[in-house]
Amino acid sequence: MRINVNIKSKSNSEFLTKQSKVDFYEKFLSTTQNANYGFFNLTQESSHIESSKRVYEKFKARRNFVQIGIGGSALGPQMLIDALGKKNDKNFIFLDNTDSEDIFHKLSEIDLKDSLFYIVSKSGGTAETIASFIICYNKLLDLGLTEDEMKNYFVFSTDPKSGELRELANTHGFDTLEIPSNVGGRFSVLTSVGLLPALFAQIDIDQLFAGANSKRDEILKSKESSDLIELASALKCLYDQGIDQTILMPYSSKLKSLSHWFVQLWGESLGKNDTKGVAQGLTPIPAYGATDQHSQMQLFMEGKNDKVLILLEVEKRKSNYKLANNLSLNSAKKLSNFDLNSLISAQLKGTLQALSDRDRNTVHIQIEENNEFAMGQMIIYFESLTVLMGSYLEVDPFNQPGVELGKKYAFEYLNS
Ligand code: PA5
Repeated sequence: MRINVNIKSKSNSEFLTKQSKVDFYEKFLSTTQNANYGFFNLTQESSHIESSKRVYEKFKARRNFVQIGIGGSALGPQMLIDALGKKNDKNFIFLDNTDSEDIFHKLSEIDLKDSLFYIVSKSGGTAETIASFIICYNKLLDLGLTEDEMKNYFVFSTDPKSGELRELANTHGFDTLEIPSNVGGRFSVLTSVGLLPALFAQIDIDQLFAGANSKRDEILKSKESSDLIELASALKCLYDQGIDQTILMPYSSKLKSLSHWFVQLWGESLGKNDTKGVAQGLTPIPAYGATDQHSQMQLFMEGKNDKVLILLEVEKRKSNYKLANNLSLNSAKKLSNFDLNSLISAQLKGTLQALSDRDRNTVHIQIEENNEFAMGQMIIYFESLTVLMGSYLEVDPFNQPGVELGKKYAFEYLNS
């Protein structure tokens, strides 16, 4: 994973000094060593992998994997399946909304008795998740299954000690996996939340951990000068100049869900009041190339210059197509000496060049291949970047008080 930051709006006086970068790095390190925040050290333990493999072995014959969860309990696993899932006989269904048409459509396509329902909720009480759980539970009862048989169909992932799901599982003997108490939803993809579905999709979770650990080691060794600190510092200086929107744009359809995972991580972690009560936040915008070159790129290129574009390049792909042809079309002739992978790579480089010509701030990330190792690296990198930015903005990246308030009001509406 290589990162090249191209900042155009730089004003030297505003860039953070070497000493302040060291101070922020030290602060980041102390966060990672604080027992209340476990995200950075998850891959140091094999227990998450082992417990997920144990549950996988028990249920691996099931044809359909239905993940019921929302926010951090859905976006990370969805990203893993979309990016790395191998072709096999499994169907993956994510129920992450209270939209009856969506649920009806998805459940009517599968044999419920040949399914495993994976209920994921750190708190164990999220209304959207519990609603979908009720629906699936009732549907299985309608099919003639007894309450006693439900433990053959449901597995829970939740806090190891607290929450109603944990109580239910303990009382009725359901299989459970853990989301460690010190890991919040949007930082939980490398726990059972993402690992169990990954196993069903034949994703190599050991390699995922190896990639995460290699990035972790690199960050730990880096001190004041690393691409992580440089990017965070640049983003902070740009933010102080009003450049407060962050676009993540992988040039890959398979990595489209990475953008959505990042949007939640960045948005929910950084958008809140700081320690002085001032509202802060960098607005994340999801995009993917080359497709969005024909959608949002005009805005990014010539609209208000308040954005940083992170373009992500996949250097090698497992497939390719030659574009040689005998067609009489001029547009086809222009392509005939090339292949599809050269085209998407030229599109990314051309866009970077054009953005630079228009004084737009860009970051070019290159990964060698879209594989488990690179995904593990990116997860740790973006999570660490988020926590560093939280420190710069003086916000708590691990809470979400606004979301909690919305949940409370929704129940008040229900009861009114
Ligand atoms: O990142 C977060 O903490 C949230 O987005 C949660 O993942 C989301 O609200 C779902 O919560 P829970 O896992 O408790 O059901």
